[in-house]
Order: sequence, then structure tokens, then C-alpha cells
Amino acid sequence: MRHCLLFSFILLTLVVCLPAHSFAKEKQFVVGFSQCTSGDLWRQTMQRLMEIEISFHPDMKLEIKDAHDNNDNQIRQIQEFLDEGIDLLIVSPNESAPITPIVEKVFKKGIPVIVVDRKVYTESYSAYIGGNNYVIGQEAGKYAAKLLHGNGKVVEIRGLDGSSPSIERNKGFKDVLANYPDIRVVASESGEWNWDGARRVMEDIEKQQLDFDLVFGFNDVMAMEAHKVVTAHHPNAHYYFLGIDGLPGENGGIKAVMDGKLDATFLYSTGGEQAIQVASKILHHEPFQRENILETMVIDSTNATVLKLQTDQMELLQRKIEAQKSILDLQLSKIQTQKLVLSFTVILLVLIVVLAFVIYGALQTKKNANLKLEKKNVEIERQNEAIRKQRDQLVEISNQLEEATQAKLRFFTNISHEFRTPLTLITGPLENLMQSKSFSPEQQRQFKLMHRNTLRLLRLVNQLMDFRKLGNQKMNLLASEQDLVGFLNDVHESFTNNAEKKNITFTFHHEPASLPLWFDQDKLDKVFFNLLSNAFKFTPDGGQISISVSQPKPIKDEAFREVVEVEIKDSGEGIDPKYAGRIFDRFFQSEKSHHFKGTGLGLSLSKEFIELHRGSIRLESLPKLGTSFFITLPLGYAHLQDSERITDETVLEHPLQDEITDEPAPDTIAEKAVMSGDNRPLILIVEDVADVREYIRTCLGSQYEILEAEDGEAGIRMVDENEPDLIISDVMMPKMDGLELTHRLKSDVKTCHLPIILLTAKASLEQKLEGLEEGADSYIPKPFNKQHLLIRVRKLLEQRSKVREHYKHHLSFKDEGENLNRLDKKFLSKLTGIVAENLTNEQLSVEELGDKMGLSRVHLYRKVKKLTDLSVSEFVTSIKLKKSLDLLANSGKSIAEIAYEVGFTSPSYFTKCFKDQFEMSPSEYIQKNG
Ligand code: FRU
Repeated sequence: MRHCLLFSFILLTLVVCLPAHSFAKEKQFVVGFSQCTSGDLWRQTMQRLMEIEISFHPDMKLEIKDAHDNNDNQIRQIQEFLDEGIDLLIVSPNESAPITPIVEKVFKKGIPVIVVDRKVYTESYSAYIGGNNYVIGQEAGKYAAKLLHGNGKVVEIRGLDGSSPSIERNKGFKDVLANYPDIRVVASESGEWNWDGARRVMEDIEKQQLDFDLVFGFNDVMAMEAHKVVTAHHPNAHYYFLGIDGLPGENGGIKAVMDGKLDATFLYSTGGEQAIQVASKILHHEPFQRENILETMVIDSTNATVLKLQTDQMELLQRKIEAQKSILDLQLSKIQTQKLVLSFTVILLVLIVVLAFVIYGALQTKKNANLKLEKKNVEIERQNEAIRKQRDQLVEISNQLEEATQAKLRFFTNISHEFRTPLTLITGPLENLMQSKSFSPEQQRQFKLMHRNTLRLLRLVNQLMDFRKLGNQKMNLLASEQDLVGFLNDVHESFTNNAEKKNITFTFHHEPASLPLWFDQDKLDKVFFNLLSNAFKFTPDGGQISISVSQPKPIKDEAFREVVEVEIKDSGEGIDPKYAGRIFDRFFQSEKSHHFKGTGLGLSLSKEFIELHRGSIRLESLPKLGTSFFITLPLGYAHLQDSERITDETVLEHPLQDEITDEPAPDTIAEKAVMSGDNRPLILIVEDVADVREYIRTCLGSQYEILEAEDGEAGIRMVDENEPDLIISDVMMPKMDGLELTHRLKSDVKTCHLPIILLTAKASLEQKLEGLEEGADSYIPKPFNKQHLLIRVRKLLEQRSKVREHYKHHLSFKDEGENLNRLDKKFLSKLTGIVAENLTNEQLSVEELGDKMGLSRVHLYRKVKKLTDLSVSEFVTSIKLKKSLDLLANSGKSIAEIAYEVGFTSPSYFTKCFKDQFEMSPSEYIQKNG
């Protein structure tokens, strides 16, 4: 590929260079021609001849500047040529002296100079081309003498006095006439080479009435103008006229001779073509002649006709040459264009070939790369497949491991869970025994020991369940703002007994009197209980244990958060430094240290609980000297999520929290039955463990009628058959659990009013909330306290009877509506609506009303009774009476009319019912409100 590119580059370079080389014009010499004037035929002929000649020299280019008979113009124009950069200068000076310096300047610059016709007064030129003007002057003198036969008067019209031809012609003429004493020049004036000047001179001579026989004009233009003036003045007289130049053509000297206007003219060649020829030689460094004197001859009536023929012929040829030249130029330009097109085509072709080559190369390279890539891809795919397989195997192994771990944990949790029920059954009766006064102190001590150890077992079970929750990420922080000092004070107090027994100095240092902190009381309780239990366990009798809270000024941790630090310090056996880093690991147990002979869960759980608070725990320990645990907790609540904070609103949303924590101490409870005798409320206990059912029955039996069901399904059946007033149900049961039971009862309009208490070993708030969502009215964790259960049952029954009482008297659920569930509210408003619509419908029976409500007569009766403590017909009467209130106050109708209007068949029965309901007669009501 690299070679291919290099080749393409070289080829392209060649292609790019080729046209530049082939089309570069050969160097063209610039020949500047400074012409004194282009205004007469002689000069125009000179330029035409130059142009014809130069067309045969394609490497030369002619640029002409016309000075218009003005010396200054000519000097300036030559300077311009110099500035523009010419290769050679041809100059025909206007006047010799003024033009000489600039010619010298050009020549000295190394630019060749060719002087044509008129001369300069210097040797600083390369070549001169022109006729011999002195000889021409002489020839004219001789011819005049011949015409005048040696006797006569001559008028001489000279050219510009500063121009060399004029001077030289005058001299040659004068020198010859000196040989003829009878020939006299009567006037010699400058006509400045043009017809205008000649006319002025001749008119002047005519004015002077000078006598003359012959006029010699230094060029044909002036001689012909003199002939015109003289012929005008003397049409019949005969005079001789001589001129110089002898140009062919209509206005030329040859024709003038033939027409008899001139007697003779002397050929004076322009030297145009010779000038170009010499220039070419100079520029090409070929030998050339410096002085090029052009031939002259006399033209008169003897040879004019022949010469005319010859010059006409020459002119014809000249024109043909020019025509051919233009054809040639045209062809040349065509060829040039074709050459250009051809070259571009070649370039294009070469480019296409190069491009094709490059593309082919690129494709080839790509193909190779693709092939390589494909190979690599196959290889990678193969490796990927192997990696995938390995990963799948790993995932499977890890799943199996996870499954095994989960199974193990499930097993432990279930076992623990199973422990809780028997433990409940031990603590409950045990607490009852402890309250009894009929046991000896020794027996009391043993009860206490049993109680303490039962609680210890419960704690271990709880730890295991907490651990499982942490593993399932189901452990949430539920922090509220509390006084840390007060909390630690309680913790301190709860261990003072232990301290006293072991004669341990147990102190609590706190500089601030109180310290508000957001924490989860339950979790910190467990942390401090665990740390202090350990401290007491491993501190020998007579040792020291302390709790210290950091100084009143808040300190900052590594993350610059304001934190409080609590230190639990003991003077126990200390921890071997090699275990210090691992004691917070789960299940860590040191073989040597007794410190960690337990389950290995306590410290690990403590660490996790502290970290749930975004805090940290560390230890400092010296073997044989003691251990300090430092707990750092952040102040404020910026680090907590909303869901982790329990505010006043949260507590309101979950009133159970209050119910449980605000429970009065057992010994202050003044227990009283809600009802007594035969009207005792009927309570259904749904629980799969017979012992627990038995225990609950013992707790409640003296005040309530008890029904028992061993699972949810049996519970539902019994509700239907027996109309209990309240249900106490376990959550975890076979066939149908307590949550399902609650859901079923609370979503059926027939049973939704029944209060339900869920009783379970699942102690977390989340599960309480789950139960509440299903519609449970209360939730009591196992192991439950007997008093707690009794209070909940009583409160719920009171709440129901309050609703009924209220309804009975006010027929409105506005105030007590909070105590009714959504379904009950809906039920009552529908029933009220139907009754109000059918006030005068005497046929409206309980069956019909039941039909409209979608309930059987029995169910309708039960439902209305439970909710309002009224029979269906009493309920209907109440609605009628309620309606009559409005009519009595506002309609102005008679009591009898109103009685009939609201559906009573007799006004007296209406008055009786009204009195029963509102404790006043309808007329008394009108007096008060009408
Ligand atoms: C043209 C001309 C010619 C003459 C020559 C002399 O300008 O006047 O007629 O022969 O110049 O320089």
C-alpha cells in the first residue's frame, strides 16, 4: 500500500509538471519601439513592415509608444520602457540632441538600442538603420540643377531643425548647388516635416510674392502641399516640385510623380523590417552590422510607372502574406487549443488511472484488513464463547452458593421465628407469676433468672432476624430527633444493676446536658446493649466501665461533617491486636479470646447499624488493659433520606407507632370491661398454634366471649356464621395467612366494619405497615404484653360503639367518619340515598332495600346494626325524621303535612318517633328553629 501511494505520488507529480512544462511559452523578447510620431504614412508604413517582420519571430514581441512629435513625451516613454523591463529598444528620435541622454542611459543599462532614421549624438547605441540623407540631399541638388539648366530660383522647405535628416539633406543640397552660381535659394524655411508647416511656409512666400522656379520639400508630404498652394495661386504657371520618400500607394510620392504633382522624389526606405531583423540577431547573439545604410534612388516620370507596378505587386504580396499570417495565427491558436484539450485529457486519463490504482490498492488493503478482522473476530468470538461459558458456570456456582446461603438463612430465620412463639408463651405466664405475691423470694429470684434468660434468647433470635434483613437489604433506618444524652442515660441506668453486682465502677460522662440527634432508637439501643453487654462480660470484678459523650462543641470527622463521638471504655482483658481488624466481620470468633465466643453477630450488626446512620465505629484496645469502642454519628439530618426520617407527620401517618410507645405502664392500667354479663363482646382468635390460642383466651377470657379458629379459612367461615365484634389473628398461618384474611374481610362490605388486630412474631415496622395496608386496625408484635393486648381490644371496641352512639343521635358521620373505613362510608351514604329517595314509598321493605344494596336481608340487618346500632326500620325512620327537620324549620307546612310528606302514615306516630329521637316535640322544634 505504501509503495502504491509513493508511485501514485510520483505519477501525479509528473502529471502536474508535464503541462506546465509543455505549455510554458518560450521566452519572448520584449522589443520596445519609441516612435517620434505615428501620424504620417511613412511612419505607418515603417510600423506595418515591423509588424509583418516580427510575426516571423515568434519569440519576439513588439510594443510601440507614439511620442506625437514631442521630445518630452519621447523621453518619458523611453523611461517607461526601462521601468517595465524591455529586452531591446528601437528608437526613432524626434530631435537628436534632446533624445540622446535617455538613449545613452538605456544603452548603459545593458539594453541593446537600435536607432532608426533620425540619429542621436552619441556612440552609445548598438546599431543604426537608415538612408544616407546627405547623399539624398546631393542627388536632389543635382536633379534641381538639371531641371533648371543651371539657372533659376529655388525654395527649400526643411524638416525639424533638430532632426538629423533635415540637417544632412540641407547640407548635401547646398553643397551641390554651390557648383551652380546661377541657381539661388530664395527661401529656406522649416515646414517641420508636415503638410501644415509646409502650407504655412508656402503661403508666406506667396504673400511676399517671391519669385521662384523650383520648390524642394524635404519629404513628399511637404512637397505635395507646396504644389497645392502654388497651383492655387498660379494655376497657369509652371513650377518644379521635388520631394523625398517615394512611398507607394494612393497618397504616396510615386503616385504624385505619376500625377505630375511632383517632378521627382527620392526613395527613402523606412528600415522597419531591417530594424526587426537586426534586433533578432542582437537578441539571439548573432553577428550583426552596426551601421545599416539603406539604398536610395530617384523616381521621376521615367520609372514611376514601373515602380508603381512593382510596389503594387509588392503590396499585393504583402497583403497575401498578412492574410496567410492571420490564417496561420488562427491555425496556431486552434492547434494550441487542441494541444490544451489533449493535454487536459491526458492529465485526466492519468489521474483516472492513478485514482483507479489507488482505489484498487485501498480496496485490496481493506479486503486484507477485513480478512484479518474476520479472523480476529472469529478468534474473539471463540474467546468470548469460552468466557461466556466460564461466566455462566460461575453464575451458576454463585447462584447455587447464594441459594444454599439463602436456604441456610431461611432455615435459621424460620427456626428463630419458631422460637419466638414458645418464648412468648414462656414470658407471658412468667410475667404473670412474677406479679403474684404468693411466691417466696427464692422462687421470685428464679423467676427473674428465667425471665432474664428468656429475654436473652429473644434478643439472640432478634439479632438473627436483623441479620437476615440486612442481608436482604430490607433493613431501613427509621430515625427521629431525640436527646442522645437522655437516651444514653437510660442505657446507663439499665446496666447499673449489673455494675453493682460485679462491683464495677460504671460512669456516664457528658458535658452537654442534652444533645439532639437523629437516630433510630431501636437500632442504637441494640448497638449500646451489645457493646455494654460485652464490656460487662469481659471486665473483671472491681473494674471500670464508662460511657462518654464528646465535648459540647461539635467535632468534625474526616469528611468535615459535624459529628458526636461516644466512647464505651472498659478495663477488661483487651483484644489481641491481630484480631482487632476482624472483630466487626460477620461470624468472627476468636479461638483464644473469650471476647468473641458468641454468635459473632453482635459486633457485625452493631457496625452495620452505625453505618446505616452514616456513622462509624472503631476500637482501640490494649491486651490486659482494656478496650475502647468509639462511635461517631453525624449531627443534623442532611445525610438522611426523607424515607429514613420519622417526623410528626410520619408518626401521624402510622399511628401504631404511637399506640405502642405511648402505652401506659402495666401497673398504671385501670382495666375495665367494655361490657359485662350476656352482652359481652364476641372476639374471634385466629391462630394456628393451640398453645398461643390458649394463652390469648386466658388473657381475654374473663371479659369477652371467645371463639377460636386454627387458620384464615376457618376464620372467614366463623365470621360469617357468628358475627364476632373483633378479630385477633396471627399473620403466619397455613392455608390462609392473616394478611389475606384481613384483605378478604376488609374488602367485603358485609364484614369491612369488623376491627382486626394482627398478632405476629414479625416485629418490624415495615411488616406492620404491610398489615395496615390490608386494612388491619391494629398490630401487636409477639411476644406481646397482656396489658397491651387488653388495651388495644378495649380501645377498638370503644371506637366502634362511639360511632354507633354518634350516628344514633346525629345521623351524620361527619365527625366520626375518620373511624370508619372507606367501604363503610360508601355503604352508609348509598343506603341513606336510597332511603331518602323512597320516603313515601310505604312498600319499601327490608328485602327490597337489601336487593338495592346487593345484600341479603340478614346481612343488611347485621351490617346496619353493627354500624349504627339500629335495626333497618329504625335506620329508615331516622332518615325520615332527619328529613323532617329541614321541612319543619323552613317549609311553613303543618306538622301533619310534613309527617305524610316524609313517609309516616300517622302524624301522631311521627310526633312520638320525633320525641324519642330528638327529646323534643315537632312543635317545640318549630318554635326554636322556625
Ligand atoms: C516622416 C518623415 C519622412 C522623412 C523622415 C525624416 O516623419 O518626415 O517623410 O523622410 O521623416 O526623418
